[in-house]
Amino acid sequence: MKKLTVQELCLKGQDMLFLCILQSINFPIDSGSFRLQKQEFLMCMKVFHLMLFMKQKESFSNIKIFQERYVTVLPSIFFNETKQSLKNKDDFSITMIKLFQGAEAILYKDNATVIKERFSKAYRLSHLDESLRKFRTRREAKVLTKLDEMNFPAPKLHHFSDTRMSIVMDFVPGETLKDVLKHGDEYQHFAREIGQKVGTLHKEHIIHGDLTTSNMIVNAKTSELTFIDFGLSSFSEKIEDKAVDLFLLDRALEGTHFEFYPEIFEDALEGYKETNPEAVDVLDRLEQVRQRGRNKSKN
Ligand SMILES: Nc1ncnc2c1ncn2[C@@H]1O[C@H](COP(=O)(O)OP(=O)(O)O)[C@@H](O)[C@H]1O
Ligand SMILES: [Mg+2]
Repeated sequence: MKKLTVQELCLKGQDMLFLCILQSINFPIDSGSFRLQKQEFLMCMKVFHLMLFMKQKESFSNIKIFQERYVTVLPSIFFNETKQSLKNKDDFSITMIKLFQGAEAILYKDNATVIKERFSKAYRLSHLDESLRKFRTRREAKVLTKLDEMNFPAPKLHHFSDTRMSIVMDFVPGETLKDVLKHGDEYQHFAREIGQKVGTLHKEHIIHGDLTTSNMIVNAKTSELTFIDFGLSSFSEKIEDKAVDLFLLDRALEGTHFEFYPEIFEDALEGYKETNPEAVDVLDRLEQVRQRGRNKSKN
């Protein structure tokens, strides 16, 4: 990744500036175990002083986001990590790499953990944006905890912060099911497993809310399908909510894996029936949900 100079950073707007700082040093928002390279640390110091200077001058109107982040993020660099790290000059190495940049979150990998941070979206009203990110972060953490208790294959939660909007969880080795299916043609086995796993979630009244094959990883160690991305999930006993969850899975499979559709979804339903005792009712309701969808698209 290209490193920007402080001057270059200054030319950009304030929000950009902060993102650039984070990105240019591959900054892990919420990890207790990172190290900064010396260069990056110095760069961070420079930017820090620069920001203090700008604050004095009040040359940027929107300083709030910066303060919010700086106050929470920087002390952990300066006062926790670096005190020890600085003693040992050779101990500056970055273990953190950027894993994925999505529309709402950025993910870093640090050895065996993943840090997922939800960033703010400029087009949302700021208080709504904050409460939405808080809600999704908390929800994801809560569901991951519950899944761990159930022994359901999902990343184990290490910790989360609803001020930094980040969660730290296990890294799941392997490819997403989407990539696996794009490279190969053995969908039957996975289809059934998708259904079984979704059935298990629904049996425990957990609605995933975003059932796509990008949110499932074929664990390279255990070969088991591991579910991720629980920010849109909910707890519900309603048959309707379960049917809608399946309906969204159906849409996602049709859109992404049309070469195996509709068989892939039909096989998934077979798996679903094996693990969810309410399957008959849910599948009945799924038909109604589909019908509503058809009627709507006619109007
Ligand atoms: N715990 C994890 N282990 C390994 N890869 C992960 C993990 N969490 C997310 N990923 C990867 O990052 C991508 C985006 O993560 P996800 O939680 O789905 O965020 P988004 O809300 O942006 O879709 C996933 O599709 C997957 O490739
Ligand atoms: Mg996702």
